[in-house]
Amino acid sequence: MIKDQVLAKDWISVAYSQDIGADPVPVTVLEERIVLFRTSKGVQAFKDLCIHRGAALSLGKVVDDCIVCPYHGWKYDTEGKCVRIPQQPEGQTIPPKARAIAYPCEERYGVVWVKLEEDASESGTPVPFYEEYEDPAFRTVHAEPYILHAAAPRVVENFLDASHLAFVHDGLLGDSAFPEIPDYGVNWKENRYVSDEIPVYADADGSGNYATIYYTFEILRPMTARLKKVNYTNNQILSMLFTVLPHDERKTTVFALVTRNYALDQPDEYFRDFQKRVIEQDAGIVESQKPEELPLDLQAELHLKADRVSIAYRRWLGELGVTYGSDVTGVKKK
Ligand code: FES
Ligand code: CO
Repeated sequence: MIKDQVLAKDWISVAYSQDIGADPVPVTVLEERIVLFRTSKGVQAFKDLCIHRGAALSLGKVVDDCIVCPYHGWKYDTEGKCVRIPQQPEGQTIPPKARAIAYPCEERYGVVWVKLEEDASESGTPVPFYEEYEDPAFRTVHAEPYILHAAAPRVVENFLDASHLAFVHDGLLGDSAFPEIPDYGVNWKENRYVSDEIPVYADADGSGNYATIYYTFEILRPMTARLKKVNYTNNQILSMLFTVLPHDERKTTVFALVTRNYALDQPDEYFRDFQKRVIEQDAGIVESQKPEELPLDLQAELHLKADRVSIAYRRWLGELGVTYGSDVTGVKKK
């Protein structure tokens, strides 16, 4: 049984496409060990377990678009069907039960997304939408995956928190001399939460040119959010898709796609390094938060109007019934 029945049916980002090549890669998703490997049909995701004697398939190799178990060489095709058992004499049929467990897997925006359980009741939620990735006026950088020793909902909420910019990222994304956040709303729009534009006054690019940058946050899914930052004085837009992989309740990998419509000829390294500096600043804070789990009871912790995005996030997790990495004490069941 997968640890969280809501997240099990959701698309979870598990890797960047560019990091999945010829060799199988093991990944832990919600405490499940899975293996990712590439075939001519794209990236496949299987439970990292051979039905014969339980060896990790990730120790094997990919041959003829099949994954071959390292222990006795059973060979599984992209559907998970065992197509060869080397020990069986010629002509003997392979038992139909000889299968690997294949998960739904998609590649989108250079990210590999996996669902641990098929949602039988409906067609399920689609992979989160990120249209800037396809827009030729924009260029996307995949920030280095970053591991935080923190619960995934704490990590996502930190991304949705405009108030910390002036403090944690003083001089980088905000300015401690201008910490005020004017009132704003958060609205439900087409299956997601969208904030109003939130002005943040800062020396946005370190050039000494102060400007007001307008932030719009969107909560797309429990583990995926996005952000659009607009500088209306020069129409520079920077968008981010922020999606996390909960390995377990205390360990989370962050994947961040940073997409811009300016400085297109500037090396991507600049944006990758910038994002790394930002998340390094966040890491110590997020890893310090207690309780480690995000409290979903809105009476727990204190909220300001400026925290409306976080409040919407906590409420939504509670409504959806997400329990993983969350403290549900005091939350009323619907
Ligand atoms: Fe995989 Fe035997 S354990 S083939
Ligand atoms: Co931050």
